[in-house]
Amino acid sequence: MRNEHAMVEGTHEKQHFMRISPPNPVPGNGRIIALEGLDGCGTTTQAARLIERLSSEGFSPLSTCEPSTGPIGLIIRKVLGGDPELQHSNAASLALLFAADRLEHYGRLVEPALRKNQIVVTDRSVWSSLAYQGLDLAPEWVASINGAAVLPHVAILVDVPAHLCMERIAARSDQRERFERLETLKALQTRYNDLFHAEHADATMLRVDGTSSPEEVHEAIWQILVDGNHLPF
Ligand code: TMP
Repeated sequence: MRNEHAMVEGTHEKQHFMRISPPNPVPGNGRIIALEGLDGCGTTTQAARLIERLSSEGFSPLSTCEPSTGPIGLIIRKVLGGDPELQHSNAASLALLFAADRLEHYGRLVEPALRKNQIVVTDRSVWSSLAYQGLDLAPEWVASINGAAVLPHVAILVDVPAHLCMERIAARSDQRERFERLETLKALQTRYNDLFHAEHADATMLRVDGTSSPEEVHEAIWQILVDGNHLPF
């Protein structure tokens, strides 16, 4: 059954799976499509374009993101932005916040949309925690605190080299969030690559080249979704 497994990944170990029990089976005939990748790779732009395309094709998609815009997501944004009030948060407390936000977000927005058979397009998902939080923490622990999370039906990895992501981040602002450093992005690239190549039961991760224009990247995403029958036409 879908969503019974979360992947546990070890860089030099054989990949294996951990059995998890989601709180509820995924309802309805909706789909969750997640955009994934390094900071600066363009997930937000591509999520917006996918929403536009789905709408123009007659769907009524839900556009959402993780961290969510809910109360726990707002705390996460403060931690990422270096709010002094949250200076004592560490990698583990941040990982727990992401996991808690994910479940709250699912109950509040994603599950109701799935019940209405909507397509949910989410800018990031549990895959981000497996990639990002797995940098500083034991991947098994990160998988286990996300054990009740629902995996997206399809995750699209927008693949852009770390140095190019860093250039894009530098061009848009002088401020840096927690993970926006070249060495971190390089390490993340390896982690996403490992996640992409690991065998994971019932969860699909697709990769597109994210280095071309936003329009070309969008077309590649659309094509890969259509060709793989990932959209409920
Ligand atoms: P965003 O800038 O893409 O909106 O995401 C916020 C940051 O949070 C980005 O650096 C990725 C990171 N992140 C995690 O570390 N773990 C997670 O589970 C999620 C959803 C995001």
